[in-house]
Amino acid sequence: MLVTGKEILDHAHKNGYAVGAFNVVNMEMLQAVVNAAEEEKSPVFVQTTEGALSYAGIGYLSAMIRYAAEQVKVPVAFHLDHGGSFEVAMKCIRNGWTSVMIDGSHHPLEGNIEVTRRVVDAAHACGVSVEAELGRLGGVEDNISVDEKDAMYTDPEEAKKFVAETEVDYLAIAIGTAHGKYKGIPKLDFDRLATIKNDLKMPIVLHGASGVDEESIKKAIALGVNKINIDTELRCAYTDKNREIFAQQPDLFDLRKYIGPARENVKAKVIEKIRLFGSNGKA
Ligand code: G3H
Ligand code: 13P
Ligand code: ZN
Ligand code: NA
Repeated sequence: MLVTGKEILDHAHKNGYAVGAFNVVNMEMLQAVVNAAEEEKSPVFVQTTEGALSYAGIGYLSAMIRYAAEQVKVPVAFHLDHGGSFEVAMKCIRNGWTSVMIDGSHHPLEGNIEVTRRVVDAAHACGVSVEAELGRLGGVEDNISVDEKDAMYTDPEEAKKFVAETEVDYLAIAIGTAHGKYKGIPKLDFDRLATIKNDLKMPIVLHGASGVDEESIKKAIALGVNKINIDTELRCAYTDKNREIFAQQPDLFDLRKYIGPARENVKAKVIEKIRLFGSNGKA
């Protein structure tokens, strides 16, 4: 069932659990995510980046994801991940997305507020909910010093002003995670998360969650994270299975015989994350 992101996250926020937001780029990834959610009776976010839009085409993603969402009983939010402009957010809303992220985190505070406010006004008029980001995620190889940390991580005072002025529905914050694979072990700034959650009392989003240990994920959820983005670990589940099959059968050419098992491997990874996040049985 297709729903807005706000519907899913308001429940997660009130009940203290997190919902997985999984990036998809093709039919197999999509089926893996939606079927895992259905089996686990879990709400879920299916999300697409602008990179996914240019890879698959907005029309294919729109038709496929809306169809998939209607095949299952669990709530599915159809989300734009890291939307880079007002225009791309509007394009997705016109094509059936029910949740959009406007990522103005590279702008100075006022510019981020301005573009987010514009997207919120238009999206809310269409019944679509909005995620924004404040603070900058690290690079996976960064060894961040205390000073750099303060400059990059989400400032709690700025967060209060940002949310009051934009009326965004859920906020992505920077507390030490990075997109992609980590070199070392990520250390999250839990005190900062606790302060922000306590001030804002709204759904909080964690990006770059692939590669973060289970204990840190559980602690982040206990302190108020409600949406957790996973991309890299799903890509690895898909690709590692293909590598394994090709190593055993180098002459294989029927694509269903490696893409099919890859889809199963991604589904197993999604189920593992759903259980870790505590959204199983919540739909
Ligand atoms: O932040 C989102 C992704 O992990 C990067 O995705 O390669 O589709 O832009 P992309
Ligand atoms: P990972 O690739 O580290 O899982 O990050 C995903 C993400 O934040 C997508 O927006
Ligand atoms: Zn992200
Ligand atoms: Na990561």
